[in-house]
Amino acid sequence: MTMVPSSNHVPMGASAAVLQPSDPIPETAVSVQGPNFEQNLSLQDFLKSYERIGFQANSLGKAIDIVNRMRKWRLSDEPLAEDESEDYTAPEVRASTRCNIFLGYTSNLISSGLREIILYLVKHKHVAAIVTTAGGIEEDFIKCLGKTYLADFNMDGADLRKRGMNRIGNLIVPNDNYCKFEDWLTPILDSMLLEQQTSGQVWTPSSFIRRLGKEINNEESVYYWAYKNDTPVFCPALTDGSLGDMIYFHSFRTPGLVVDIVGDIRALNEMSRKSRKAGMIILGGGVCKHQIANAMLIRNGADYSVFINTGQEFDGSDSGARPDEAVSWGKIRAGAESVKVFADATLVFPMLVAATFAQESSGQ
Ligand SMILES: NC(=O)c1ccc[n+]([C@@H]2O[C@H](COP(=O)([O-])OP(=O)(O)OC[C@H]3O[C@@H](n4cnc5c(N)ncnc54)[C@H](O)[C@@H]3O)[C@@H](O)[C@H]2O)c1
Repeated sequence: MTMVPSSNHVPMGASAAVLQPSDPIPETAVSVQGPNFEQNLSLQDFLKSYERIGFQANSLGKAIDIVNRMRKWRLSDEPLAEDESEDYTAPEVRASTRCNIFLGYTSNLISSGLREIILYLVKHKHVAAIVTTAGGIEEDFIKCLGKTYLADFNMDGADLRKRGMNRIGNLIVPNDNYCKFEDWLTPILDSMLLEQQTSGQVWTPSSFIRRLGKEINNEESVYYWAYKNDTPVFCPALTDGSLGDMIYFHSFRTPGLVVDIVGDIRALNEMSRKSRKAGMIILGGGVCKHQIANAMLIRNGADYSVFINTGQEFDGSDSGARPDEAVSWGKIRAGAESVKVFADATLVFPMLVAATFAQESSGQ
């Protein structure tokens, strides 16, 4: 006769493994909770709810908090140091000395509708400096000359080529826009060359962009506002786009234009060095991310950092590196407030701005 184990005895080892008791929960712990649509949520309540959703929503909540801290900081919040420079001892100077916010973004974001959000930030002087890539410059001016259209990621490349249409993700830019850009740019390049030859003007990428911002004279342009507000725009790889094509053509017709990158690296690094507090907001990776982070090294690291990008770190790319990698290089200060939101910036940045810069009550 076989013995059957009694079914009303839970095996001791299994029970202990599954029902292991927890340590007490710290009082500071925050529980997970999503938004309650039974209530009439305002936009701000809705954005606030991201903090407690978890995963990347949680990181967006942290990014909102860090950006608001960048915006609120004043030198007067800190005690007067014994060795403070005379320039910064007067209370009114301390009360008006703010965190310099360095904004970086990839070219495609100017092609997207984030352009209007960036324009808002520049128009209202919310950022101290910008770093982007060539497309991030020219697409802003090109949009003043012709429109960019919503389309589809799956459109056939060869067919688009025949039709003179260029695809950026699910956006389309008609090639005519680039022809209009050349018509607009060429006489400006002629004048810039003449000024270089007659007055010794040394052009840098940032003074080049400033000049284009002046010439476009159009309130729909990000760089028109950067020109008006004296906000420097750095673009170390200015020639990697349509601007490079136009400069190349111009160099055959009227050779001699020189653009100096030394002046700009000095200006950007000096701006970083002299910032009493410095924050980075960087959308995407590549040059725009690293050039700002590299400038932060000059001041021994940024005080606040918000990265929003889709890059991954397993390939060792700088684009995908989390803030902690920048801490190891001295580009973010140890203990500084930082977050990386793993997301498409077109989804996240409008929410970040709605919860921060667009809130008049929070300060700026
Ligand atoms: N519209 C355009 O995209 C355009 C136009 C002309 C020239 N170019 C040139 O192409 C070169 C490469 O462009 P780039 O350096 O600006 O960036 P990129 O397009 O190569 O992107 C760099 C990284 O940023 C991240 N990223 C990009 N878009 C993102 C998004 N929407 N959300 C989150 N993360 C994102 C990704 O990790 C990506 O690998 C530049 O030299 C630029 O001038 C681009």
